Amino acid sequence: MNAVNAIEVNHLTKKFGNKTVVDNISFNVKRGEVFGLLGPNGAGKTTTLRMITTLLKIDSGNVSIFGHDAAKEGRLARSMFGLTGQYASVDEDISARENLMIFSRLNGLSRAASKQRTQELLEEFSLVNSADKPLKDFSGGMRRRLDLAVSLITRPALIFLDEPTTGLDPRTRTQMWDTIRRLVEQGSTIVLTTQYLDEADELADRIAVIDHGKLVKIGTPEELKKQIGGTKLNFTIDQVSQRTLAEKLIVNQLGQSVSCTGPNLSTSLSSISQLAPLLETLQHSQISIGNLTVQEPSLDDVFMNLTVGKN
Ligand SMILES: Nc1ncnc2c1ncn2[C@@H]1O[C@H](COP(=O)(O)OP(=O)(O)OP(=O)(O)O)[C@@H](O)[C@H]1O
Ligand SMILES: [Mg+2]
Repeated sequence: MNAVNAIEVNHLTKKFGNKTVVDNISFNVKRGEVFGLLGPNGAGKTTTLRMITTLLKIDSGNVSIFGHDAAKEGRLARSMFGLTGQYASVDEDISARENLMIFSRLNGLSRAASKQRTQELLEEFSLVNSADKPLKDFSGGMRRRLDLAVSLITRPALIFLDEPTTGLDPRTRTQMWDTIRRLVEQGSTIVLTTQYLDEADELADRIAVIDHGKLVKIGTPEELKKQIGGTKLNFTIDQVSQRTLAEKLIVNQLGQSVSCTGPNLSTSLSSISQLAPLLETLQHSQISIGNLTVQEPSLDDVFMNLTVGKN
């Protein structure tokens, strides 16, 4: 049982009308990992999540959750995870405590157990002071925390979070990240969707980049960054008249193209070890330089590279 992946997704496909919004997506999620589905608006993240969590019928392909087929053994598969939707299903007119009580009872907990779990979750998510206010008066951050609390009532081993921090201010966002990390420490497996690269970078062990319904890349944040390759090197030359010479030296030495605007030159290094010899060469030709910056590729670069202009 322990060798079984938390999730296996094979050739998952969904069409709405004649539009394929999830197109033959396959991936596995290992136990204990944080798996990020990253993609722009409309990429198909929520649709993928809804199929995995049995909320939406699969057109073709299959999903298994801890070895149980989500279509054939839906009830069993469903009992193994908690889900926090992009749009919450909690009731606006009643309090956080009442919502937690209702969902606890719906999850089959006794009245006493519901009361206890509700109190635990209110404490865990710092909602004790606002527990009895109607949700209408809650801030966005409090709402998201309550959504997450509701999905954790049954202490699921697997947790799905659809855009857990969308719309939160930076401080509340960081708090949510801490909460997610704490869940991971306690042994949960987490699948989250996000439009934010920094969030995927911060939290995810592996990331699947989805665009227009297709899985365009999968890997660790490091692998994805490496893939785009090249450390960017930027500097200025003190005398613009030396630009042509500088360009020639760089092209000869690195075999890379150089882009120039005024005194600014930029190129890319395939390895940081190319930097010192290059600086030596420039110095040797009496080209003095300034404002040197060396920039590792960011996940932003990867994302832009993978998802832009594919309309
Ligand atoms: N019930 C539906 N009927 C028709 N089209 C739908 C339906 N649900 C989603 N779509 C379409 O499927 C595509 C993928 O939507 P989805 O909600 O999965 O994207 P997403 O990646 O979650 O985007 P976002 O970041 O905005 O949440 C979109 O083009 C959307 O308009
Ligand atoms: Mg979505």
